Amino acid sequence: MDLGIKGERALVVGASEGIGFECAKALLEEGAEVMICSRSADRLKQAAAELERATGRAVRWFAADVTKAGDVAALQSWLQQQADRLDILVSAVGGSQRALFGELDDAAWYANYEFNVMGTVRVIRAALEPLKKSAKGGRIVILGAAGPRMPYPHQLVSNVHKAGLIAMVKTLGVEFLPFNIRVNSVSPGRTMTGLWTKRIAGLSKQRGVPEQQIAAEFTHEIPMGRFGKPEEIAPMVVFLASHKTSYVTCQSILVDGGIARGLI
Ligand SMILES: NC(=O)c1ccc[n+]([C@@H]2O[C@H](COP(=O)([O-])OP(=O)(O)OC[C@H]3O[C@@H](n4cnc5c(N)ncnc54)[C@H](OP(=O)(O)O)[C@@H]3O)[C@@H](O)[C@H]2O)c1
Repeated sequence: MDLGIKGERALVVGASEGIGFECAKALLEEGAEVMICSRSADRLKQAAAELERATGRAVRWFAADVTKAGDVAALQSWLQQQADRLDILVSAVGGSQRALFGELDDAAWYANYEFNVMGTVRVIRAALEPLKKSAKGGRIVILGAAGPRMPYPHQLVSNVHKAGLIAMVKTLGVEFLPFNIRVNSVSPGRTMTGLWTKRIAGLSKQRGVPEQQIAAEFTHEIPMGRFGKPEEIAPMVVFLASHKTSYVTCQSILVDGGIARGLI
């Protein structure tokens, strides 16, 4: 299937590893020109080299921390220097903090809000003017989470903030229609990335049990009986970012091995 994005320009934020990296790779494989962003210049350089080796395509990168307004303003200027138009924005930054209500003070709530909500707000703001210039209409795809559809215990703060992101997708999807921009979200279930390898290692140390046991506890609840792989999330992101989904906006699509099964 030709997704119609050959030669289009895409920015993937949170792309030095994990799901964002796989999104960048899949977009390159579909013939898009891809720019990547995350905090560490060294890791971005490595990721760009790996993507270039894998796809034979050039990749530009810019280091910015989305929790810092100044960094994202610099990203915006860089983006405008690179290209006056942008066709696709993928925001793959965010994450969860495992904590119970009593363990979360105001600072912890605000820090997670900066990361999950304001980080995405700033990235969209930085990309909005170039997206308005996309010849066939801009597309924004945000990485949400299955959590808001089936709130996980111990993940209160990200359940709340990721639900806010999905509300943002549904609001902006309408607000941006006059600019011919579609806004959607892909909501992964448990997907084996650095986020999980670190979490499993931390819980294993904390509880004094083998990592395999911790991983098995989290796998147990997944109907497909395994964690997802980042390369199983990326195709849905690219599909929503393509012209094959030209009548789809305001949606949050689960890619979660069946973990969140609510009817609404
Ligand atoms: N993995 C899962 O099970 C899962 C489940 C549900 C939802 N998701 C969502 O999917 C998205 C990607 O998750 P992932 O598992 O692929 O994460 P990951 O493996 O931890 O990768 C995160 C990426 O974001 C970058 N990053 C982190 N903090 C940043 C910041 N403040 N500013 C800019 N870049 C930053 C990281 O690079 P640097 O460290 O170099 O900045 C890295 O490239 C997130 O929105 C996450 O909430 C993941």
